[in-house]
Amino acid sequence: MENIIGLYGGTFDPPHLAHLGVARAFLKSFPNSRLVVMPCLIPPHKTRSTGGADEKSRLDMARLCFGSLPRTTVSDYELKREGVSYTYLTVRHLLEENQGARICLVMGQDNLEIMEKWKEYRYLLDNCVLAVAVRGDEALSPIMDRLRHEYGADIRLLHTEKSPLSSTDIRRLAGLGLSYGDAVTREVADYMASNCLYSGVAENISMQDIYGFIRCLSPKRLSHTYGVEKAAMMLANNHYPSLDKRLVCAAALLHDCTKEKDGAGQAALAEKYGVVFDSATAATVKIQHAVTGAAVARKEFGLNEVADAILTHTTAAADMTPLQKIIYMADFIEENRKDELCLGVKRYYFECLKENKEAALDKTLLYAVEEGIKVLEKECKTVHPHTLEARKFLKECLADEDDNRGSKQ
Ligand SMILES: [Fe+2]
Ligand SMILES: [Fe+2]
Repeated sequence: MENIIGLYGGTFDPPHLAHLGVARAFLKSFPNSRLVVMPCLIPPHKTRSTGGADEKSRLDMARLCFGSLPRTTVSDYELKREGVSYTYLTVRHLLEENQGARICLVMGQDNLEIMEKWKEYRYLLDNCVLAVAVRGDEALSPIMDRLRHEYGADIRLLHTEKSPLSSTDIRRLAGLGLSYGDAVTREVADYMASNCLYSGVAENISMQDIYGFIRCLSPKRLSHTYGVEKAAMMLANNHYPSLDKRLVCAAALLHDCTKEKDGAGQAALAEKYGVVFDSATAATVKIQHAVTGAAVARKEFGLNEVADAILTHTTAAADMTPLQKIIYMADFIEENRKDELCLGVKRYYFECLKENKEAALDKTLLYAVEEGIKVLEKECKTVHPHTLEARKFLKECLADEDDNRGSKQ
């Protein structure tokens, strides 16, 4: 009989019921297997958020969450190993310890999508079964067929329930002292409470006030906002890793904070904060929230850099700061955007990223600005002068970079 060991890695910060559901689904699908839950030290594909729990707490919580499952152990191997928690190193270790075993990587579809970015992914595809958790409402990813076809990947599906809350949501709610319902087990909830976990998430630049300020937004606007936050963090990590992540978060969270006000509401806010719309902005209610949102960031929170990024998030501008670029771009590529323009920009960004990481952001900015202009022109709408200036500036910058590259060759 095949000796299967499931390897379920993650940050588990905190582990929640959907994680538990995935583990249960694995144990059910592979009745003679064992499962090793592996909290990682440094995740290869995402940056640990600030305000997360320390290693010991994550290990403790994983033990509380998964400990009562049959045939399951929680390992501290990756937490004890120094450096990035690459899965291939853990697989190698498990195979050395368990001669003749077959390792089954337990993962979500999101991880499968980036399988070819995993370090030593060929080794993993050659040596492991992939057990991919598929939520009820998720469409099967086309990449499954491709991995099967191109690499002979052995992919099995685990059918699981979608969790209403992610670990990020739980940290955020816990940080604000709000209820996160029964998204974690009772034992994990007690541990979080008695160790005051995540209470520091909202301590910087009055993040608590920012979350409070945007709480009145509609659920749809809020999920867009959190999507922009996530995309902005990804862009910051890719292009400006030393940028203050608190500013990135604050700008993303506040960028549409006044978006749901109508024309009269925008005018009232402009009056309240003493800001004046230029003529192109005055003519288009849809972009006025950039000016009033920036005023909120500046006047209510004293965040000038954040205000600048909000100000340009609908129109772009010449010579944008890193934060301005990130927020403008994140607004296009966040995960809830499904329209053709945004999906096109997202595709273009990831293609550019593969080719040339350094130029990817500016190239995509130019692409987004140009595509946006095309849409406006097609609809016979006015293009804001700042957008035209942004196009000119980016074109010149990218041409200069091309020249420099040419002269170096
Ligand atoms: Fe907006
Ligand atoms: Fe937005």
